[in-house]
Amino acid sequence: MNCRTTPAGERNTKPITEALRPVFSSSTGHVLEIGAGLGQHAAAFATAFPKLNFWPTDPNPYHRASIDDWRQTLALPNLRPARSLDLLSANWHFNATDGAPAAKLSAMICINVLHISPIAVTEGLLLHAGKLLEPDGLLYIYGPFKINDTHTAPSNSDFDVYLRQQNPEWGLRDIAQLEETAAFGSLSLTKIKQMPANNLSLFFNRI
Ligand SMILES: C[S@@+](CC[C@H](N)C(=O)[O-])C[C@H]1O[C@@H](n2cnc3c(N)ncnc32)[C@H](O)[C@@H]1O
Repeated sequence: MNCRTTPAGERNTKPITEALRPVFSSSTGHVLEIGAGLGQHAAAFATAFPKLNFWPTDPNPYHRASIDDWRQTLALPNLRPARSLDLLSANWHFNATDGAPAAKLSAMICINVLHISPIAVTEGLLLHAGKLLEPDGLLYIYGPFKINDTHTAPSNSDFDVYLRQQNPEWGLRDIAQLEETAAFGSLSLTKIKQMPANNLSLFFNRI
C-alpha cells in the first residue's frame, strides 16, 4: 500500500477538516468530491465524519489509484471507491447509490481545482451542483480567489501570473464571478472563511 500525499495536502487537510466540522459533524447522507487528487482529504474527512458517505472522483487514473490505496489501507466503510468524473465532459452526472434511485447529495467538495482548470470547469461545477444537491445542501470550494477583482496577497498575484504562463486558461477566479454563475445554479454564497496561506473556504448553499 502506498498512501500518497502532497505537501499542500499535509498543510491544509487539518484546517479544511476543521472548517467543515460545524456543518459535517451533524450531517448524514452523501458527499461528492470533485478533483479529489491523491485522496488524502477524502481519507481524512471519512475518518472525521463517519456518518457521511464520501464519494471521491478524479479524471486522472493515477490519482484514482492513490485514492483507492487510501481506501484499502484505512478500510473505512464510508469511503467509497474512486470514480472518474471530468467536469469538462458534457452533461456529466453522478448517482450516489449505484443502481438504486439517485439520491440527492448532502454536499459537494472541490479543493484546489478551479484555478488550475479552464473557466468551463468552474461553470460546470456551479451549475451542476444546483441539480445534484438537496435543498440547503452545501457546495464547499477551497483555494485562492480574488475579491472584487483584486488579489488578496502579493503571493496570490504572483501565483496567478505563474498559472497563466502554464496555461492561459488557468488562473485565480473572482468570487463575484462565482456568485453570479452560482445564482444560475440556484446556489447562494453563505459564508467565506479565511484559511492559511491566503486561501479561502467558500460555502455555497442550494436555495
Ligand atoms: C491541484 S490538484 C488538487 C487535488 C486535491 N483536491 C488536493 O487538494 O490535493 C487538482 C485536481 O483537479 C483535477 N482536475 C483537473 N481538471 C479537472 C476536471 N476537468 N474535472 C475534474 N477534476 C479535474 C486533477 O486531476 C487534480 O487531481
